[in-house]
Amino acid sequence: MKIQPLTPVIGAEISDLDLCNLNDESFNDLRDAFTKHSVLFFRDQPAMSPIDQVAFAKRFGPLHTHPAAPTLAEQEEVFVIHAHKDSKVANGNGWHTDVSCDEEPPLATMLQLHLLPDAGGDTLFASMYAAFETLSETMQNFLLTLEAHHESEHVYRGRYSDRGVEDAAKIYPRALHPVVRTHPDSKRRALYVNPSFTTRIEGLAKQESNALLAMLYQHQQRPEFQVRFNWSPNAIALWDNRCTHHFAMWDYWPAERKGHRVTIKGERPYLAPPEEMAAAPAHLRLSRQL
Ligand code: SIN
Repeated sequence: MKIQPLTPVIGAEISDLDLCNLNDESFNDLRDAFTKHSVLFFRDQPAMSPIDQVAFAKRFGPLHTHPAAPTLAEQEEVFVIHAHKDSKVANGNGWHTDVSCDEEPPLATMLQLHLLPDAGGDTLFASMYAAFETLSETMQNFLLTLEAHHESEHVYRGRYSDRGVEDAAKIYPRALHPVVRTHPDSKRRALYVNPSFTTRIEGLAKQESNALLAMLYQHQQRPEFQVRFNWSPNAIALWDNRCTHHFAMWDYWPAERKGHRVTIKGERPYLAPPEEMAAAPAHLRLSRQL
């Protein structure tokens, strides 16, 4: 397996690996690369059947069920990503971390796109480790004391009505999560707020919360924390929702873009005590904004 880092901060392209036939040793190497680079891209794979995609994703752990999205009738773990000329919304068209409104948000997401527009439809991913590690120590210490509300009714209500998904009786998940979370494998700390689901920081006045979140969103969208993926047919992205956020650009209307997404179940976000924290790798320490 070849690993080609795409930036020093986030993202690597993996080649010479057959995801449908991975032995345990190759899977462990892949997992290490995933922990190191936070998002992996694969271009040399065939279109995976839903069964194969689900089987591969399950090697990371049990799968997560999306609270609102349209799924494949024959394989309900598969969320169909589809935007076309009649779409009212395109999934992921705004910075977010997948389903952060769940008590146990997904650990990772795997997306294979089969149909692409001639141009556009890129996905941007950004490192939430880099976002946290480049804040001043004073701000870091303040954020470590905070929790934030993540809600979903404003995102999901009616969202998939054009795709035949009835949502009137649904319960819209909401959760309170630490503003900074520890990654269970790397032991690094990552910022964990996003403009799609995070609605308020607990304990702050509304205007304090709005101002702090606005500053954090602007900071975490800095281009040097990002990698931008230009899809090719059947390319796959596998991203870690515990330390990244992403933005799927809907700049290709009225063209069509379609694929299959599977998410792996995660654990409740937590912040470990300082003695369990790993420092940022030296070569990844980006300059602070002072
Ligand atoms: C998503 O946020 O899951 C969609 C990503 C994409 O379509 O590129």
